[in-house]
Amino acid sequence: MTTVFEHSVPPAHPGAGQPADGGSVVGPSGGMPPVPPVLSILASAMTATMLDLGNRTGLIRALAAGPADAAELAERTGGDERLIAEWLRCLDAAGLLVSAGSRSQWTPDAAAMLAAPPGSPADLSAGIGLFSALAGCVPVVAEAFGSGRVPADAYPPELASAMQRMSEGWTSGILPQVWVPAIDGLVERLQAGGRVAEIGCGAGHALQALGERYPGMTADGFELDDRQVADGNRRLTAAGLTDRLWLHAEDAVAGLAGPYDLVLALSVLHDVGDLDTVLRVVVDHLAPQGHLLVVESPPLRGPLAAMLLATSTLYCVPSVQARGHAAPGTLGLPPEVLMQAASRAGLILDPPLPQAIPLVAAYSFSASR
Ligand SMILES: C[S@@+](CC[C@H](N)C(=O)[O-])C[C@H]1O[C@@H](n2cnc3c(N)ncnc32)[C@H](O)[C@@H]1O
Repeated sequence: MTTVFEHSVPPAHPGAGQPADGGSVVGPSGGMPPVPPVLSILASAMTATMLDLGNRTGLIRALAAGPADAAELAERTGGDERLIAEWLRCLDAAGLLVSAGSRSQWTPDAAAMLAAPPGSPADLSAGIGLFSALAGCVPVVAEAFGSGRVPADAYPPELASAMQRMSEGWTSGILPQVWVPAIDGLVERLQAGGRVAEIGCGAGHALQALGERYPGMTADGFELDDRQVADGNRRLTAAGLTDRLWLHAEDAVAGLAGPYDLVLALSVLHDVGDLDTVLRVVVDHLAPQGHLLVVESPPLRGPLAAMLLATSTLYCVPSVQARGHAAPGTLGLPPEVLMQAASRAGLILDPPLPQAIPLVAAYSFSASR
């Protein structure tokens, strides 16, 4: 019997994926027929497991420190030389390495994303971690597929931490340094003891980043998932911030206690279920000059849309449906839909905020009263 693999991908020629002598670049499929799209997606997903392994073992950053062969990487990381040699061959075959003699290094593109400063918007390690965490959720979602409902506490805890790490690029960096200063008068108000609330705060990373930058402010974070709140409170206690940053395991609709100078809804409005109610309650709790800062996905197409829709299928839609709501999904609040909902609630759009990275769009709103 001939398999689809035999039709699509001839056996690797001797030396395919091996470092070439004399400084040549080994391409992903040098001399091979093109790989069909479905197989290419499968190959990329399998290769992504190697990136996750490289993150967890320190190989990715060890290789970013300079060209190396397997023996040198084994010395740098304490890993097994034979396993590392196979790992290098895999990434070389995938086109992520440039090899000269027996030594390899990341291509410039790969280095820019894989070895970016940890937590910076370009750092892909969080995305790689989210890939693995989502793959681990497939059995849970498949089991519940008939109902389409998966309660948040049925997901492995690694998923929430992986999603938070994914958001940290903008919650810890762009939010305090770019978006908040772009909102008229907000920095002065936070410095003068302003009050902040966050809907769906996860473990409170965004509030911690803001609280550290603006020592005068206080904040209430609301999160339905009590495991994340417990994690966050442990971290805030260790950081000595629990005298002014409070995380509540509570629905924000019931818990908001304004007036607030700033309400944050970071990648959360598509997950709240009853969007109109949430926005109306926010308006009721905004201070006269207060702002609602929303982050949602911009309209996307192609592979980036596919990536977010995978998250949506495995987490956003089943978890919102488990709470008894219709779920718009990760890409379900494009600007026009968000603007209509904001307008129904009595919110008006403030001047545009800088669009710092392609995966998220930020908007600031004020109450129209
Ligand atoms: C996609 S996560 C985003 C978490 C965090 N803001 C981030 O950017 O990493 C959405 C979170 O919102 C929470 N959530 C949804 N509706 C909520 C509500 N009405 N009150 C409090 N939390 C809510 C969910 O439990 C979930 O943890």
